[in-house]
Amino acid sequence: MMDYKNLRPATGSGRKLYIETYGCQMNVGDSEIVVAILQKEGYLYTRRPEEADVILVNTCSVRDNAEQRIWGRLSELGRYKKARPGLRLGVIGCMAERLREELFERRAVDIVVGPDAYRDLPRLLRDAGDQAGRSINVELSREETYAEISPVRLDQGGVSAFIAIMRGCNNMCSYCVVPYTRGGERSRDPQTILREARELFDAGYREVTLLGQNVNSYSFGDVDFARLLADVAGVSPQLRVRFATSHPKDLSDEVLDVIAATPNICRAIHLPAQSGSSEMLERMNRKYSREWYLGRIRAIRERMADCAVSTDLIAGFCGETQDDHRQTLSLMREAGFDFAYMFKYSERPGTRASREMPDDVPEAEKTRRLGEVIALQNTLSLESNRRDVGRRFEVLVEGRSKRSEDQLFGRTSQNKVVVFPRGDLHPGDYVRVEITDCTSATLVGRVVE
Ligand code: 5AD
Ligand code: SF4
Repeated sequence: MMDYKNLRPATGSGRKLYIETYGCQMNVGDSEIVVAILQKEGYLYTRRPEEADVILVNTCSVRDNAEQRIWGRLSELGRYKKARPGLRLGVIGCMAERLREELFERRAVDIVVGPDAYRDLPRLLRDAGDQAGRSINVELSREETYAEISPVRLDQGGVSAFIAIMRGCNNMCSYCVVPYTRGGERSRDPQTILREARELFDAGYREVTLLGQNVNSYSFGDVDFARLLADVAGVSPQLRVRFATSHPKDLSDEVLDVIAATPNICRAIHLPAQSGSSEMLERMNRKYSREWYLGRIRAIRERMADCAVSTDLIAGFCGETQDDHRQTLSLMREAGFDFAYMFKYSERPGTRASREMPDDVPEAEKTRRLGEVIALQNTLSLESNRRDVGRRFEVLVEGRSKRSEDQLFGRTSQNKVVVFPRGDLHPGDYVRVEITDCTSATLVGRVVE
C-alpha cells in the first residue's frame, strides 16, 4: 500500500542516507524509489553528505564526459571516509551496470547496484557493513518495475513530480548504451500509476511527468499509452500531465488526438530527432527517415498550433559528412524547435556503433558542428520566445525565482519558464500571465486578471 506519510523524507535518528543523482529524469525517479526502499528499513534521508552513514551516487553512462565527471565526484566523496570510517559509499544506476568490477578495482566504492536490483539494497548495505569488501548486485530483470513502491519525493517544491511508467529500452539505437545498462522494456501496471497520480494530487502536487525511455510503446494488458495518458489526465483537470521521452517512430495520431482533446495534457512534446539526415538515421538504427520525422511534426502542428516541440541532437556521429550535418541544421529550421538538448557523439563501449562503425569525425570537427547546432538553436529559441511576447498563458507557479526574492517562476503548458512579480501567489497556484519580454531561455511577464 502506498501511504501519504511516505511522500516526504522523514526526520529523526538512525542510519543516515545521502544520495546524489546524475543523468536523466528516470534517474531522479529511481533515486526517490531507492530512498523509499531504505526509509522502510529505518534509514533517514539527509541532504548533508558530511553527516551520512551511507552515500549513494546514482550514475549515468550515456556519454563519456558524464562518467568522467562522476569518477571525479566519487573521489571527492571518498574523502568523507577518512573522517567517518564506517561510511559506506555506493554507486547505483547505469555506471554500476556498465563498469561493475572496475568500480571496485579503482577502490572507489563499497557497493555497486544496478538499476533493477534496488530492492536488494538493504541486504547489500548490511553485508557491506559487516565486512570490508565488495557488495554487488547488477542483475537486470525482465519484470522489475518497482510498481507498488511509493517514491519519497526529494524535490523541495511539492508542485511537480515524476512518475516512471516503464523501464528499460528495446530500441537498440546503435550509439546508445541504455539497452545494456537498463535492460529490456517493461511497462508498469496502470492501476499503480493512477494511484500514484491521485496521491500526488491529494498531497498538493499539480503536475506529473510520465517517464520512460520510449513512453509511446507503453503497453500493459489492453492499456496503451493513449489510454494511460487520458486516464492520468482524468485524475483532475487541475493536474497537468507531461510525458517523456517519445520515440518518433511510435508517436501515433491517436496519442496526438488525446493530447489535443485534453486541455490539462501539456502542449509540449519532446521528440528526439538525433539527426536530420536519413542516411545517419539509418546508421543510428532509428527506424525512421527525415521525411517521416517531419511528417510527425506536421501531424502535431495540424492538431495543435500552440504545441511546443523540443528535441535531442547528436553532432559528429560515425560517418557524418558536411552534407549530413547541413541536413541536421535544415531539419532544425524546418521543424522550428522551441528547445533542444545537443551533444557531441561519444563512443560507448559495447554498442553496435563501437563495434561496427569507426568514430571518424575528428574531435575538433565535432566541436565545430556542435557549435553551429547550438548557435542555430539559440536563434530558434529566441524567435520562439519572441513570438510569445504580447500573448497570455496559464502558468503553474513553481517557486521563487533564483535571481530575485520578489519574483516567482513557473511554466507555461509549452514548458517554457516564465518569471513574474510575486504578488499574493504560492507554488501550486495557476495564474494568467501576459508575456512582456524574453531572452532565448526565459519569458518575462506580468500577472493579468
Ligand atoms: N553520444 C552522444 N549523445 C548520446 N545520446 C545517447 N547516446 C549518446 C552518445 N553515445 C543522447 C541522445 C539521447 C540523449 C539522452 O542522449 O541524443 O536522446
Ligand atoms: Fe544516463 Fe541513459 Fe542511464 Fe539515464 S538511462 S542515466 S540518460 S545512461
